[in-house]
Amino acid sequence: MNKVKKVAICPGSFDPVTNGHLDIIHRAAELFDEVIVLVLTNTSKTPVFTKEERVQLIERATADLPQVTVESFDGLLADYAKEKQAVAIVKGLRAMSDFEYEFQMALTNRKLYPEAETVFLTTKEEHMYLSSSLVRQVAGLGGDISDFVPACIVPDIFNKIGKGVK
Ligand code: COA
Repeated sequence: MNKVKKVAICPGSFDPVTNGHLDIIHRAAELFDEVIVLVLTNTSKTPVFTKEERVQLIERATADLPQVTVESFDGLLADYAKEKQAVAIVKGLRAMSDFEYEFQMALTNRKLYPEAETVFLTTKEEHMYLSSSLVRQVAGLGGDISDFVPACIVPDIFNKIGKGVK
């Protein structure tokens, strides 16, 4: 009997992808047959990296994971999940401060596409404080971001927002 592949989506704006996101993507790849990392638009944020750049950085950072693909989408996450028949939307939960916003998004997505469950994975302690804006801020001021993002994307971040390659 042919087993139906369980597809999960890891959504976000990934501006840029961080070690916190990558930890969640690795763990999702252990739980599901196929993981799509989906670069989306958060209408309340103005991204620094273009969608294409964000996709490329994630592709490079996940090159060792054959079950992971990276896509971008301009519409609703729920519509994309329906198109791919995804069974789960996987997100990292960092602290209580994330909870209210994440809960609101999870309930909205369930209303729009009830077939996909939002699954929250608890972020590792070392990534509790991490965020994409923190990475941009440290890089912009010439600080060391090597603990925050994978080494293979550090030069791209400095070329974009830092003072040249670090
Ligand atoms: N470890 C460390 N940091 C993490 C993390 C983790 N595991 N997971 C998330 N973060 C950080 C991100 O870097 C981000 O930092 P920033 O605020 O400095 O950019 C922050 O936490 C928020 O991340 P997230 O919750 O993923 O929000 P987002 O803005 O990246 O993504 C979308 C939100 C894109 C998923 C949402 O707006 C969306 O679905 N958009 C599509 C349109 C849609 O369907 N809208 C209706 C939604 S109900």
